[in-house]
Amino acid sequence: MTTRSCLSIVLAAGLGTRMKSDLPKVMHEIGGLPLVGHVLKALGRAGSDRISVVTGPDMPELATLVRDLAPHARCYVQTDRLGTAHAVLAAKPALEIKSDDVLVLFGDTPLVTPETIAKVRQGLERGADLVVLGFQTRNPFGYGRLLVENGRLVAIREEKDASEAERKVTYCNSGIMGITGKHALSLLEAIGNDNAKKEYYLTDAVEIANERGLTVVAVTGSETETQGINTRAQLAACEAAFQNRMRHAAMDEGCSLLAPQTVFFSHDTKLDADVIVEQNVVFGPGVKVSSGARIRAFSHLEGATVGTGSVVGPYARLRPGAVLGSDTRVGNFVEVKNATFGPGAKVNHLSYIGDASVGSKSNIGAGTITCNYDGYLKHRTEIGANSFVGSNSTLVAPVKLGNGVFVSAGSVITDNVSKDSLAFGRARQVVKEGKAKVLRERLQAEKDAKY
Ligand code: UD1
Ligand code: CA
Repeated sequence: MTTRSCLSIVLAAGLGTRMKSDLPKVMHEIGGLPLVGHVLKALGRAGSDRISVVTGPDMPELATLVRDLAPHARCYVQTDRLGTAHAVLAAKPALEIKSDDVLVLFGDTPLVTPETIAKVRQGLERGADLVVLGFQTRNPFGYGRLLVENGRLVAIREEKDASEAERKVTYCNSGIMGITGKHALSLLEAIGNDNAKKEYYLTDAVEIANERGLTVVAVTGSETETQGINTRAQLAACEAAFQNRMRHAAMDEGCSLLAPQTVFFSHDTKLDADVIVEQNVVFGPGVKVSSGARIRAFSHLEGATVGTGSVVGPYARLRPGAVLGSDTRVGNFVEVKNATFGPGAKVNHLSYIGDASVGSKSNIGAGTITCNYDGYLKHRTEIGANSFVGSNSTLVAPVKLGNGVFVSAGSVITDNVSKDSLAFGRARQVVKEGKAKVLRERLQAEKDAKY
């Protein structure tokens, strides 16, 4: 990685009118992370030491989000939306502090990778004064066209200002630009608005730099990475591309995905090598799965940690705070929330375990429910190690079961159960011999008398 200092400016003031949403465009999510979060994450990895984000005047929630995602980033407000160059200049105080490189990125282009950002910076390091990230596409409509002559980028022509011949060019502007720090501010301030949209176009920096005899080049990225989002359909297309990227990354790390197209990831899903993920599994945010674990078909996990060698599902739901130790079993139609399982603990069928701890090697029978909520407060259920909870038991929290406890099936447990005790919480069974026959004969006689 380069040692050059770098200021990155992320443009995010656009309203995103075509999204038809009350939410600023860059706050829409991909893989559970807002679009602008993806750009900030890539910048963090690419080693940008200073980050500025340009927001609109009516977007306090965006400024709050940026603070949460990148506490060291500074937000600047672009009061009137007069174009991309005008937006960059909203961060003028940041530009006045010199750095070797200045990068401009768009908040609505979330799939750009740290490697591609590094490629733009390498261009500057190798002596170019201005570097534009371009891409080849079959459908260039709407993009600025890169006009290249003898290996030099001579101009970027916006769709509305392009001639017939220029519109045929398929090499397009991704929106990502690098400028050497010593020229950035003066180039940006020289940009005017004499064009079809009467906007200050950042892309005009290219022609101005050429007029000044500076070196201007284009580097090429993939179309997938540079795709921007203006509509809900493009948001969905980007999500699909992101999911594919995550699936490949997981497989490259040594996970088996039995049907990759049916497994859905969050931006922060962490699967160790030798994890097996079966068909139709959804990972919400904050999931970690350790090596040798198997996530069986149709399971949904979020905010959960799964230990080595554990098996989850089929049809399991792990909610935030589910922490499974090694070699645990969480089976079909089991929901676990804010609960820890010691090594080898099992809950195999049809249960709800919430706000609880289950000790190592304990076995929770089918249909067991922790009653953790009384309509006002949440309460905890603590179950020791090597305990056995019989099927269809109801554990009314707050309640503690010690180690080696045995709860008989169908119990309602409201009081603590001490170590090695056997607990019954149900009515005693009564058997009256021969009484079924007597009852049947009486009922038949009543029916015969009526008809
Ligand atoms: C821009 C480029 C075009 C490129 C395309 C790639 C210019 C003039 N055009 O066009 O060459 O091919 O992106 O997707 O740069 N923004 C502000 N304030 C403004 C205007 C825009 O913050 O006043 C932000 C938007 O939030 C967005 C970005 O700048 O993140 C790009 O603006 P947009 O209007 O989408 O530009 P395009 O027309 O797509
Ligand atoms: Ca755009």
